[in-house]
Amino acid sequence: MKSAEVRKKYLEFFKKRGHAVIPSAPLLPENDPTTLFTSSGMQPLIPYLLGQPHPSGKRLVDSQKSFRSQDIEEVGDNRHTTFFEMLGNWSLGDYFKKEQLPWIFEFLTRELGLDPKRLYVTVFEGNASVPKDTESIDIWKDIFSGVGIVAKENERIFAYPARKNWWSRSGEPDTMPPGEPGGPDSEVFFDFGTPHYPQFGETCHPNCDCGRFMEIANSVFMQYQKMPDGTLKELKQKNVDFGGGLERLVAATEGKQDVFETDLFSEIIQSIQLASGLAYVNDEHKKTLRIIADHVKAAVFLIADGIEPSNKMQGYVLRRLLRRAAVKLKLMSKSSTEHQFAPIVQSVLRTYKETDYFNNTKEESIKNSVALEMFKFTKSLDQGLREIQKITSIDGKIAFDLYQTYGFPLEITEEIFREKGQRIDHQQFASEFEKHQDLSRSAAKGMFKGGLADKSEQTVKLHTAHHLLLAALQKIVDQDIKQRGSNITAERLRMDFNYAKKLMPEDVQKIEKLVNEKIFEDIPVVRQEMEREAAEKIGAQMEFGHKYPDRVSVYFIGPEKNFFSAEFCGGPHVAHTGLLGRFQIIKEESAGSGVRRIYAVLS
Ligand code: SER
Repeated sequence: MKSAEVRKKYLEFFKKRGHAVIPSAPLLPENDPTTLFTSSGMQPLIPYLLGQPHPSGKRLVDSQKSFRSQDIEEVGDNRHTTFFEMLGNWSLGDYFKKEQLPWIFEFLTRELGLDPKRLYVTVFEGNASVPKDTESIDIWKDIFSGVGIVAKENERIFAYPARKNWWSRSGEPDTMPPGEPGGPDSEVFFDFGTPHYPQFGETCHPNCDCGRFMEIANSVFMQYQKMPDGTLKELKQKNVDFGGGLERLVAATEGKQDVFETDLFSEIIQSIQLASGLAYVNDEHKKTLRIIADHVKAAVFLIADGIEPSNKMQGYVLRRLLRRAAVKLKLMSKSSTEHQFAPIVQSVLRTYKETDYFNNTKEESIKNSVALEMFKFTKSLDQGLREIQKITSIDGKIAFDLYQTYGFPLEITEEIFREKGQRIDHQQFASEFEKHQDLSRSAAKGMFKGGLADKSEQTVKLHTAHHLLLAALQKIVDQDIKQRGSNITAERLRMDFNYAKKLMPEDVQKIEKLVNEKIFEDIPVVRQEMEREAAEKIGAQMEFGHKYPDRVSVYFIGPEKNFFSAEFCGGPHVAHTGLLGRFQIIKEESAGSGVRRIYAVLS
């Protein structure tokens, strides 16, 4: 069964049972500073599980985009992914075990058509403060007997400790922080019927890692809250929090042990096969193809939710995904990676064409973000890999140099050396990192009396480059060009301007050349306060549609009487253009009727 059908059937099944369908929350959590990503369906619903009334009622159902960065090391096998969709239904203090477990069984067997004989279930075995979940055991026995199966403990129903059958965002009861909700859970596993391998243990059971069983459904009975004194208190309302990974459910319906062979991945794997020349055949190739497919897909979803590659927080995780994919592809296919990612990104977008996760306007900016990151990284990738191959012994300082010079995240360098049997001292890496931050902080202070923090240094440079670019556009293409929008991050600048046609390639070259000449001339950038009328008279550039006060601040590049650029602007800017480095236009495209858009970087 195709993924779109499974998703639809699930939402309709619970809609018929009184659930309101709610949209997926973004991957970047809203109003939750405790975590970087939305990693489960229940996460955006915490306040409601704790008792706040939900505007859509007490029964909810959705398909939630989820990202688990902690699973990055596991990706490469048949079932782990960092990004996945979690089908979820919730009872906010409404129904409980005796409705939830039969419904899930009905959904799996009647709607998805899974053979009941291939389903095995697990429950919580109990601990000092929470009793064994005998209620769920009894319910499961009834359910199975309804389809003619005698379900015995340790044959069809298995009890496990909290490590396996307790769910909270932070794991077992002992590791839950005060205030955190959680509870025992009951999981359903699908049996692929493959042979057990003794290296995974004497006997096989649902939580065995041999690959025979795959968890496809998890009903959490969210009924406890951790107290400041370390005890668990019953919540006022007993909730159900169900999660089932869409990728795994589709795999089970198709009897495929490998989620990467379902329609949620097949096109993506195909496009990577084309890009790399690798076939999806042996374990080594499959692992590489799965990692690249997972990482590019996750990156596309993260970018669609507003994250840009950077060296901080979510942006760093995104950068790591893209760069790891680039290194893997490079190492396996030995070819250049810069342009190889566009068709892979396209295949991700095509895979989700029946959803509303990406709309047309987002597609372009997703492609651009990936292209820009790859452009920056590919430049140093070959060189960095050559350096790595030469190194015979690595320490934290060398790993830091590789990060600093070639942009290789620590984890990637480590992964390449792990294959050579080497380990990196993380502490040494961290102390080199700190030393560098101190140096660049003091350098920044010396250079910019305005007190810029080092973190905005690159953005400030790109801001000044933005002024040079506008002036160059007017001088080379058309003096009537005006800025229509702008967006500057530490990674790149984006400028929209009025112009009806695509720029000629030779004009793009001329613009780059002129901006680079002005950088080479190392011209002072000077701020002047002046009357608005006087600034208008000398032709200082204004932002389109912006209202200015009577007295304005104007930034001049070049002498006031014979400037190269003058713009109404509040700053900040570098002190002189020589600080900028080399300017390069990465892309020129349409941004709507009569408006063009340029992306440019400094290197
Ligand atoms: N919160 C549980 C999970 O993520 C069920 O939704 O598995």
